[in-house]
Amino acid sequence: MSSAPAKSLRFRNPRAQHDFKGRTSSIVAVGSYVPERILTNAELARTVDTSDEWITSRTGIKERRIAADDEFTSDIASKAALMAIGRAGITPSEIDLIIVATITPDMLFPSTACLVQQKIGARRAAAFDLEAACSGFIYGLEIGQQFIMSRTYDTVLVIGAEKLSSIIDWSDRNTCVLFGDGAGAAILQNRPDSHGLLTACMGADGSKAELLCMPAGGSRCPATSQSVASRLHYLRMDGKETFKNAVNAMLTAAQEVLRRCELDITQIKCIIPHQANRRIIDAVGERLGAQPEQLFVNLEKYGNTSAASVAIALDEAVQSGRIQQGDLLLLVVFGAGLTWGAAIIEW
Ligand code: UT7
Repeated sequence: MSSAPAKSLRFRNPRAQHDFKGRTSSIVAVGSYVPERILTNAELARTVDTSDEWITSRTGIKERRIAADDEFTSDIASKAALMAIGRAGITPSEIDLIIVATITPDMLFPSTACLVQQKIGARRAAAFDLEAACSGFIYGLEIGQQFIMSRTYDTVLVIGAEKLSSIIDWSDRNTCVLFGDGAGAAILQNRPDSHGLLTACMGADGSKAELLCMPAGGSRCPATSQSVASRLHYLRMDGKETFKNAVNAMLTAAQEVLRRCELDITQIKCIIPHQANRRIIDAVGERLGAQPEQLFVNLEKYGNTSAASVAIALDEAVQSGRIQQGDLLLLVVFGAGLTWGAAIIEW
């Protein structure tokens, strides 16, 4: 595999170079947190008609983390955020904006980002939630980047956090084996000496919203005893169709950011894909022409943690030494909406 001409790349991003007078945004630190409780495939096989063999061979997942009853998305998010803040060498009061990507907010409103603001003591920060399902962290990076590049803010905290166990139908074997809880966070600043976010892209297709959704609890179907009895407050998914759309959308998004940065897949040190299914990851890697060792995979430990997925994986890839300074990373995601996205980072 050829090594990347890393030093010259940061300013090859056409938008960084021209649109915003050279101001770039960097991921200066990352952090993550997963709840302590581990739920194994063997335990699930005792409650629904499934097996470790089926789950492992169809998905690659071996276990997932489950938050405690009194541990909410804002708690999980705050722990990941404080880790990133400590590593960035900043104080919470320096944060200008908090973006929390989640489909499992503590409440429908106010936003989980506001609850995180209070929990971490980021008193100066504006705060809002972003809902792009499993694509949320990359949507968050792209939005955060815009605020840095436009000089609106100097320090943005982007968090992907989920307590998916709270919306899983634990009697539905089609979905309950797939998901887990966790959070990952990143601090964005304009620090040209740090890890550059070279480009990011986002996409959506609302015509396929029904493929993966939680039907009730919003304005279309408010909570009633009937909606609860019909189990409409749980996540529902057409797995096969979602799978096909995931492979196509992730491939297209990855190719788009590679093209924008004039990069070849062989120049990417580490591909960090959304961790939904090992077979999706392998299919995307293969179609991109990547070598298996370029792919970062940790879904065997956590399952699909939606908006937290690539954020946790990025943190683990960094902490494990898999990524070194100057390496080029490709992040690529897909989720309900449908939504998708990709980003290139020069670490
Ligand atoms: O994060 C957002 C993106 N999410 C995704 O991208 C997930 C995409 N989808 C998938 O990962 C896969 O479609 C699944 C893992 C959900 C399912 O795998 P599949 O190979 O598409 O299986 P299937 O849905 O076609 O089901 C095959 C069989 C069915 O039985 P019959 O109808 O053939 O008798 C299912 O009922 O497997 C059965 N099945 C299970 N069996 C044992 C479904 N779930 C289970 C289970 N244990 N947990």
